[in-house]
Amino acid sequence: MKTVVVKCGGSVLKELSEDFFSSMKELQANGYSIILVHGGGPEINAMLDALKIESEFKDGLRVTSKEVLETAELALAGSMNRKLVRLLEQHGIASIGLNSSDNGLMQAEFIDKEQLGYVGDVTNVNSDLIEILCHQNVVPVLTPIAAGPDGTVLNVNADHAACAVANAVSADHFLMVTDVDGVLHNGELVSQLTEQQTNELIEAGVISGGMIPKVKSALKAFSDHVHHVHIVSGKKPFYEQGAWHGTEFTKEKVTV
Ligand SMILES: Nc1ncnc2c1ncn2[C@@H]1O[C@H](COP(=O)(O)OP(=O)(O)OP(=O)(O)O)[C@@H](O)[C@H]1O
Ligand SMILES: [Mg+2]
Repeated sequence: MKTVVVKCGGSVLKELSEDFFSSMKELQANGYSIILVHGGGPEINAMLDALKIESEFKDGLRVTSKEVLETAELALAGSMNRKLVRLLEQHGIASIGLNSSDNGLMQAEFIDKEQLGYVGDVTNVNSDLIEILCHQNVVPVLTPIAAGPDGTVLNVNADHAACAVANAVSADHFLMVTDVDGVLHNGELVSQLTEQQTNELIEAGVISGGMIPKVKSALKAFSDHVHHVHIVSGKKPFYEQGAWHGTEFTKEKVTV
């Protein structure tokens, strides 16, 4: 079974184009099983604002108090997951929403409870259930809320969660769909990046904010089991006639 793990950014959910769904269908037609993991940044921010709860970010990660956690779970499992499953179904892509903290689907431990609160680092993904759904040609749509120690649930950055899933199923491709064309430098798309070039762009401050966990997840997946990792836009086609768009991570140094 060829698999693609797609991380769909909350940033782009409202702007997903018809071309995005065409690319998803083309992947399925070419024999790929798709597993989706989604984020929900803007939706979580809107709910926090409405509830007048403040939150801050450290290195692109949301500091998560108990209150923020409850709001994030509501936005992710109650709203984003529902919207995404419905959109896929409307486009004829059979899918089923799963909350990753259920039945130990995704387990995590605290990264640094004092600094970040209820933010998790994934320690295990139970890929059996995910693979059963893939064999049924159903796209599993996973939240990035994981089961933590002693009955807690933890908020996992969705890029990190998707990376853990891509590694657990040894995905052929790991695709992070966001609201920009890929990694940009001076407004231009960088079509290929090595680990060293990526680290240089982080140090130079060219890669910042939410792009940091994204490129770090890309590099982690790439150094583990996944051979093809891409960051693409959800506003455009990302896969056409067998060709991938956006930024691809490579082992060899290329001129950019
Ligand atoms: N060098 C860069 N190239 C492109 N985008 C960058 C760069 N540096 C920072 N960014 C920011 O990263 C953002 C994408 O990350 P962000 O976390 O906001 O979205 P997401 O991960 O797709 O959504 P979510 O976090 O809701 O799942 C871009 O919209 C852009 O503002
Ligand atoms: Mg993000």
